[in-house]
Amino acid sequence: MNGVAERVAWITGSSRGIGAGIAKLFAARGAKVVLHGRDRSALASVRAEIEAAGGRSMSVVGDLTKFAEVEAMRREIEDGIGPIDILIANAGGSFSPPGPVEEVTEEGWHATVHGNLTATFLTLKSVLPGMKARKRGVIVTVSSSAGRRAHPRSPIPYAAAKAGIELMTQDVAAQVGPFGIRANCVAPETILTERNQERIPAAQQEQLVQTHPIQRLGTPEDVARAALFLASEQSSWITGITLDVAGGATMIR
Ligand SMILES: NC(=O)c1ccc[n+]([C@@H]2O[C@H](COP(=O)([O-])OP(=O)(O)OC[C@H]3O[C@@H](n4cnc5c(N)ncnc54)[C@H](OP(=O)(O)O)[C@@H]3O)[C@@H](O)[C@H]2O)c1
Repeated sequence: MNGVAERVAWITGSSRGIGAGIAKLFAARGAKVVLHGRDRSALASVRAEIEAAGGRSMSVVGDLTKFAEVEAMRREIEDGIGPIDILIANAGGSFSPPGPVEEVTEEGWHATVHGNLTATFLTLKSVLPGMKARKRGVIVTVSSSAGRRAHPRSPIPYAAAKAGIELMTQDVAAQVGPFGIRANCVAPETILTERNQERIPAAQQEQLVQTHPIQRLGTPEDVARAALFLASEQSSWITGITLDVAGGATMIR
């Protein structure tokens, strides 16, 4: 009994990267997966892979920083595949470069806070009324090691937004526990997604490996297995935690 079979699981930001890894694992475990992103061709290729492996999926397209679009996607999911049992609020990223706080632009700040904290808030706001009415649901949000501890080269808007997601997840867990709903967070360290493979030069990847007690960088599958645990009945008495998926890196610096 893995706990996600036959469940409708909306995985935001699953057109690529970590979200695509979560979607593939959940589909392989029998969930009805709802893929999401803005890039239709990337979504189509993840969907084709899932369906070629015998999985079930649908996809929705929209910008999570706009509540009207989030609501339209939620309604499309409910009409197309049924009520949402599991929300993995994964979409996000760092949209301003690291550097001294006074050099962060106003646009970079807003883009990063909206693209992470606001997007997660709006998705929870849309999905929770139905979960509360059904007295059932599981939520997993996505932070980052940047939100777990300070570092002089931290991308500050991203770190602040992710730390906000962690506390919001705990507050939500406290509010919705009596309705039979759990909310937890995962906080990955560097994950070798397609984008990071291209963006981080090989020599820097080697240096990063040395900062991890488990001497390798993470994979989307590492995060997917943590999300599966938190979304399944295996974790039925766990709520309000942030689970570091970090090869031990967060612990030592
Ligand atoms: N990769 C890492 O090392 C790492 C480490 C710690 C935490 N994280 C977190 O893990 C999550 C996934 O990261 P990733 O590396 O897999 O990212 P990624 O490869 O850049 O993919 C990001 C996904 O989110 C979607 N997305 C972003 N902003 C959106 C918006 N406003 N509306 C709708 N969709 C949006 C993208 O959709 P389209 O591309 O289709 O537009 C894409 O599907 C993020 O929250 C990130 O902060 C990543």
